[in-house]
Amino acid sequence: MNSIDGLSPPGSAMDRPSRSELAGLWILDPNCVFLNHGSFGATPTFIREEQRKWQDLLEEEPVRFYEDLAMKFMEDSRKALATMLECDAEDLALIENATSGVNTVMRSLRFNEGDEILVPDHAYQACRNTLDFVTQRWGAKIVTVNIPFPIEGQHVIIERIMAGVTPRTVLAMVDTVTSPTGLLMPFEEITAKLEGVGVSVLLDAAHGIGMVPLSLDSLGASYTTSNCHKWLCAPKGSAFLHVRKDKQENIHPLTISHGMTFPLGDTTRFRHEFDWTGTRDISAHCALPATIEFMAGLVDGGWPSIMQHNHELAIKGRNILCEALGIDAPCPDEMIACISTLILPQDGATNGIPLHEPDPLHAVLQAKYGIQVPVWSWPSPQGRYIRISAQIYNSEDEYRYLAYALKKELSV
Ligand SMILES: Cc1ncc(COP(=O)(O)O)c(C=O)c1O
Repeated sequence: MNSIDGLSPPGSAMDRPSRSELAGLWILDPNCVFLNHGSFGATPTFIREEQRKWQDLLEEEPVRFYEDLAMKFMEDSRKALATMLECDAEDLALIENATSGVNTVMRSLRFNEGDEILVPDHAYQACRNTLDFVTQRWGAKIVTVNIPFPIEGQHVIIERIMAGVTPRTVLAMVDTVTSPTGLLMPFEEITAKLEGVGVSVLLDAAHGIGMVPLSLDSLGASYTTSNCHKWLCAPKGSAFLHVRKDKQENIHPLTISHGMTFPLGDTTRFRHEFDWTGTRDISAHCALPATIEFMAGLVDGGWPSIMQHNHELAIKGRNILCEALGIDAPCPDEMIACISTLILPQDGATNGIPLHEPDPLHAVLQAKYGIQVPVWSWPSPQGRYIRISAQIYNSEDEYRYLAYALKKELSV
């Protein structure tokens, strides 16, 4: 399938575009054109089997697993992550997801009345909710920074965020890549500037590891949380929280457990508290070293090549869509990583669909064309958006197929 007009009308699985040659490593439904890796990731079969091996080992002798082996396995996983993240493995906590990473930090910190917390209006709603919940409790104040979309360059983001800083600003939550608008934030520069003026940065890197290079020690953010189950393709429920050494004393897990009082020995309270938060299935965490190695082995050049490939595919995908729909890309190529959001035309019916209500176009694309891709309306910056993802199992033909479907449904 090489041109949009050359596509035959879809209707059966036969009409679905092919995925890439690597797609067979995933169990993805052949009847689905899966263009939404960004929401929950997707895990290759090999890695799911690897996770299963850890679960089997646990169930063979649960007491031995938790009391004698688990700490060592978790340490191996932290070390594998730390190599990729260029940081000290001791500063990493293995947690379930980025939402709990943000909660862990926000619910540990103490705020004074009138303290200001900066957050761009592109922030992920669940994490924004956490900020609202915590600040209301302390009488602190959220300062929302409006970032335009379309946007001409990263300098706009830096200017807007820095303009929001006042002597009362104590913390800023900044994304690596924004969820609704798919913008690659200049997070390194923002972090350096904010931390430089004494504002702690909580980096929401949910779209982080495996999508963009992260070098946490040189980055210098106070707190960074990232999902491994998204762009690393690790099993669900695997994420990390990195806390800079000088901040660790005040950060406690959401679940207070034995670690609070356990004799320190030669380790830190941070380690004790985060390494044991009650009995839980740590198989997703145990599978991390194999995940990192397996994925890196799929493409010549390993992880840097995967990220570059996905970035280039996202650009190709959005070019195909923009050309077909006759719309402009809302940001320069260097402002996207492996997801890309486009602004769809609005009419009376689609103007102002509330955030929590599905856009009917999403259902039509799914039911009629078998395409899984998010379509939503966002309040600020106000717009109706469609967001494509690019992972190594995707192919250019899938974006052509989406373009075909959109042309039909939007009558453009
Ligand atoms: C920017 C951002 N932050 C946080 C999250 C939450 O991730 P999780 O549901 O794994 O906690 C997401 C999920 O898509 C996200 O895009």
